[in-house]
Amino acid sequence: MKRVSLTQYLVEEQRLHNNIPAELRLLIEVVARACKTISHSVGKGALGEVLGSADTENVQGEVQKKLDIISNEILLEANEWGGHLAAMASEEMESIHPIPNRYPKGEYMLLFDPLDGSSNIDVNVSIGTIFSVLKAPEGMGQPSEADFMQAGSKQVAAGYAVYGPQTMLVLTTGNGVNCFTLDREMGSWVLTQRGMQIPAKTKEFAINMSNQRHWHPPVQRYISELLAGDTGPRGTNFNMRWIASMVADVHRILNRGGIFMYPADLRDTSVPGKLRLMYEANPMAFIVEQAGGAATDGKQRILDIQPTKLHQRVPVFLGSRDEVAVVTGYHQET
Ligand code: AHG
Ligand code: MN
Ligand code: MN
Ligand code: MN
Repeated sequence: MKRVSLTQYLVEEQRLHNNIPAELRLLIEVVARACKTISHSVGKGALGEVLGSADTENVQGEVQKKLDIISNEILLEANEWGGHLAAMASEEMESIHPIPNRYPKGEYMLLFDPLDGSSNIDVNVSIGTIFSVLKAPEGMGQPSEADFMQAGSKQVAAGYAVYGPQTMLVLTTGNGVNCFTLDREMGSWVLTQRGMQIPAKTKEFAINMSNQRHWHPPVQRYISELLAGDTGPRGTNFNMRWIASMVADVHRILNRGGIFMYPADLRDTSVPGKLRLMYEANPMAFIVEQAGGAATDGKQRILDIQPTKLHQRVPVFLGSRDEVAVVTGYHQET
């Protein structure tokens, strides 16, 4: 079968949809190249001195892993000089990162979770990188955090790399979702799945059950119905899967359906859940909706949320749209 590279795919998409200008295509190719470099580091494991803790804390209050920092550096260095960006933002950096004055500025802004699933790094379970692209506001001067406060529906591209048995890149620019597999010998991304679609119905759910006692009633109700299986109101059995790497759980859902949930919990109503809106929930919501799925915070579409803080958290319910509708409906009844 004729192999289609990432570049050829993006050029053809531009001809079809005219929404991938050269600057955006070049930006996506730079990010994809950076993900290849991260994949190479991840693959070294103990042989590459990339495992273990960096003994530093990030703005999230998490102890950073060495690979959190290595991946962040790789993405910063790869994207600083190209001239496509005005600024970057990352889970691992407290404030935004303007492009240094020695480099030309572009009209895009890149946000990323450089290493998603950090708790899985040292036990050789799939991890990944998540990224989101916004346009810089017209006439923007020195970039500020306020320039990043755009709803997820404003994203012009989003994607993730998953570093698993294969290294894969999943990408959307608003014309559906496509998946590329890294050919390690050639060092190139090869199109391996076109137009990914999430089944509307599923019998599989993903949630961290150890937080059950802290969930709000709509989630308690929904999960207890799934757990009741064929003796309960749903009349059928459900399977639970939880990898604790969002990229890996979302990738499974993109391929065979499912619902992924990270709810807010009662412990701290000021912190609505664990996942971050700007560089986890928004890019994944864009991808999931482009694949025919749904993504809400329990009450509203994630892509409609107007951000106020760069690192703000949001409850996440995403995946097979019929199941997202059920649990969202329970929230709306309260
Ligand atoms: P990160 O490693 O970038 O901080 O993200 C981890 C997130 C997400 O990948 C995953 O779904 C979730 O944390 C797992 O949370 P638990 O450890 O509570 O299961
Ligand atoms: Mn993450
Ligand atoms: Mn991370
Ligand atoms: Mn983290």
